[in-house]
Amino acid sequence: MAKILLLGSGELGKEFTIAAKRIGQTVIAVDSYENAPAAQIADISEVINMLDGNALDALVEKHKPDYIVPEIEAIRTERFYEYEKQGYTVIPSAKAANFTMNRKAIRDLAANELGLKTAKYRYATSAESLKNAVSEIGMPCVVKPLMSSSGKGQSTIKTEADIEKAWKYSQEGSRGDVAEVIVEAFVNFNYEITLLTVTQRNGITLFCPPIGHRQERGDYMESWQPAPMKNEILEEAQQMAEKVTTALSGCGVWGVEFFVADDGVYFSELSPRPHDTGMVTLAKTQNFNEFELHLRAILGLPISEITQERIGSSAVILAMENSENPTYEGLEKVAASPKTDFRIFGKPTSRPFRRMGVVLTHDNLGGDISEVTEKAKNLASQIKVISE
Ligand SMILES: Nc1ncnc2c1ncn2[C@@H]1O[C@H](COP(=O)(O)OP(=O)(O)OP(=O)(O)O)[C@@H](O)[C@H]1O
Ligand SMILES: [Mg+2]
Repeated sequence: MAKILLLGSGELGKEFTIAAKRIGQTVIAVDSYENAPAAQIADISEVINMLDGNALDALVEKHKPDYIVPEIEAIRTERFYEYEKQGYTVIPSAKAANFTMNRKAIRDLAANELGLKTAKYRYATSAESLKNAVSEIGMPCVVKPLMSSSGKGQSTIKTEADIEKAWKYSQEGSRGDVAEVIVEAFVNFNYEITLLTVTQRNGITLFCPPIGHRQERGDYMESWQPAPMKNEILEEAQQMAEKVTTALSGCGVWGVEFFVADDGVYFSELSPRPHDTGMVTLAKTQNFNEFELHLRAILGLPISEITQERIGSSAVILAMENSENPTYEGLEKVAASPKTDFRIFGKPTSRPFRRMGVVLTHDNLGGDISEVTEKAKNLASQIKVISE
């Protein structure tokens, strides 16, 4: 049986671990704190700072895993190249994990090397150069630290007066050791999607039905599958996803994010791993959920097809306050609702806007996706995370 070193043990890692345990694999779950969601399921858990390259090296040396599976971006991914040289398998690949943690690397690859359509963009390294970049891009535009996720340090510039604020905010939200930001033209999109893409060791690239989602404060609130869209637009997105995943190399599930506007499909960014909006697949919308697909692709088990079994939605359950002992109110209401399920991640502490669980709703194929989404949203809002 394979030994999987899972770097990051949140809710996505937890579902991945469940999938792995179901078919008898060994999982070592790593995070920066004790008792993280995946650590509660895994065979072994470890607590380290994954941005500390030496700590990471020591862990790889200690466990000698068959697969190194990153679940988060904030890892000293430069070390992954060394692990590959030593004969380890990094999922999907050292290059993919390393490029996607830095917006500059992935954007330059997508826009310049692969010629994918993206929002017009520039980089800036100071408040002064941000001003120049904004004048070249025009307003409104979006500023993001090169290394950040979940919308951290991200803001929209609408007037000159916002520039200074946007720079300061980006420096507070940046994760890495670089002060640089990307400035993107604001894309006035009609909708945005995640295209879950599966690359296989010995098989063709497969695509899940597109997932629609709505973002607030940089995190997703609801996601639904399928996102209604024209076939020709979907095919364009699929071609872009195939190009970028091929260039990054390796096998596994990828969450490729696109904006769809009047003037076409824009590539935005991608995760070289299951995507949070893909939790909708836990509503059994597909023959395999995104975690099962990731696992199969990693192990080299062939996936013959991905089929849509029903339509579904997910809506997040957020905490509103800090707690050392969060508990949940309103689960009975959700449980009593037909065609509904939920997950509570079991995070040991809460803080404002921390994602603690998800409500899942579904309907038969041909049902009304917006109704299913409304229902998930309403039910999620009835669950209260309280501190005892
Ligand atoms: N150029 C843009 N134009 C319009 N909206 C944008 C633009 N860039 C980002 N957004 C909005 O902000 C959201 C988050 O942006 P992005 O995915 O780049 O950041 P992130 O912090 O990496 O998010 P995550 O890691 O949660 O996916 C997007 O899903 C989209 O809704
Ligand atoms: Mg994103």
